[in-house]
Amino acid sequence: MSTSSAHEAASPTGARPVVVLGVTGGIAAYKACELLRRLTESGHDVTVVPTESALEFVGAPTWAALSGKPVATDVWTDVHRVPHVRLGQSADLVVVAPATADTLARAAHGLADDLLTNTLLTARCPVVVAPAMHTEMWEHPATRANVATLRERGVLVLEPAEGRLTGKDTGKGRLPEPGEIFDVCTQVLARGEAGSTLDLVGRHVVVSAGGTREYLDPVRFLGNRSSGLQGFALARAAAARGAQVTLVAANTSLPEPAGVTVVRVETTAQLRDAVVPAAASADAVVMAAAPADFRPLDVSEAKIKKAADGSAPSIELQQNPDVLHEISTRRARPGTVVVGFAAETGDDTGSVLELARAKLARKGCDLLVVNDVSGGAVFGSPDNEAVILGADGAATDVPRGSKTTLAHAIWDEVVRRLQD
Ligand code: CTP
Repeated sequence: MSTSSAHEAASPTGARPVVVLGVTGGIAAYKACELLRRLTESGHDVTVVPTESALEFVGAPTWAALSGKPVATDVWTDVHRVPHVRLGQSADLVVVAPATADTLARAAHGLADDLLTNTLLTARCPVVVAPAMHTEMWEHPATRANVATLRERGVLVLEPAEGRLTGKDTGKGRLPEPGEIFDVCTQVLARGEAGSTLDLVGRHVVVSAGGTREYLDPVRFLGNRSSGLQGFALARAAAARGAQVTLVAANTSLPEPAGVTVVRVETTAQLRDAVVPAAASADAVVMAAAPADFRPLDVSEAKIKKAADGSAPSIELQQNPDVLHEISTRRARPGTVVVGFAAETGDDTGSVLELARAKLARKGCDLLVVNDVSGGAVFGSPDNEAVILGADGAATDVPRGSKTTLAHAIWDEVVRRLQD
């Protein structure tokens, strides 16, 4: 018995979205098999267009078997069907993963010496490119210029991930995980259908996510229930809209979003030290993290032992910095849009929205995303619902939906407030 995928592609016309998967000659070509599987299993109609050198790494039978379609690298196969024009023209999305430095150069210069580069020239749909190469090649001025040219032309070029490269070296240049490239593809396709553009290109955004830990001793800490899911959804959504994204992640084991720079922290002090300098050059900062408001005054270097007389230790706390308040009230750039989150329950001093309005004013941010947590349902859930309050008096209701949907609603409000 077959089961349907959680990510089943849905088009308003009922047609399967048409995707061209370009694969170029890097060792990460094998990871494109997983991307292909995810695309086909979620209902996309995928044609694989490898380059000749990609076939040195993964052969044509693999691509043909996984896509259920014939595979060609040149423009001389099936000429009567004019594939060098038809593939690009009929695609809803072209994704190139991995993209080598050579392919970036050929695409940037408009060369058309194989089927993939012809497809890139004829495509009028969104194009996503996931480069993978050694750090030196990625950092070379020629590659930097080619990436800049492609981005200027509206191509979504994802930043490579950091980590182990071919051989023994590590650095920037890894292909992001296939599941994360798949996520970008589905978001770009969905936004393309809605006629939306890459409206965060050229913008640097900072997102914090997760819950901080405040250590009592080397093994114990005070923590909270934040899963980091909403912050990661915000980072993914921003990357899919073309932003340069810094994600300051506290204590999550969620997969690293494609094209996003992840800074790992544990405590509120570390989170502050990561967010504040990054915010200085940011167009927007979204504080989705749950930083602990207090930390133990003393952190024991050794594990705290039970007392022989059975008495419990008392823990004295001191206040942590309020990061949102600091970046809102001491802005390095006046135009930075600052967004806070508030989980409220309402009490006898006011309703959820009244307390949230007061918090928005107290924190000094531009937008406050308010969750009513009276039922306790938000933590770790894939869904969320919220009201986005603006310091300008605006209030936008976002009905219950995925955290990705809320993320895009937040970015919509941010984009409205960005200055040139
Ligand atoms: N926040 C922060 N630094 C802290 C605590 C919170 O930057 N030390 C940010 C959170 O990331 C969130 C917002 O502030 O965006 C709201 O957090 P919340 O805990 O609701 O605010 P508090 O000022 O602690 O309000 P309350 O008195 O209701 O606890």
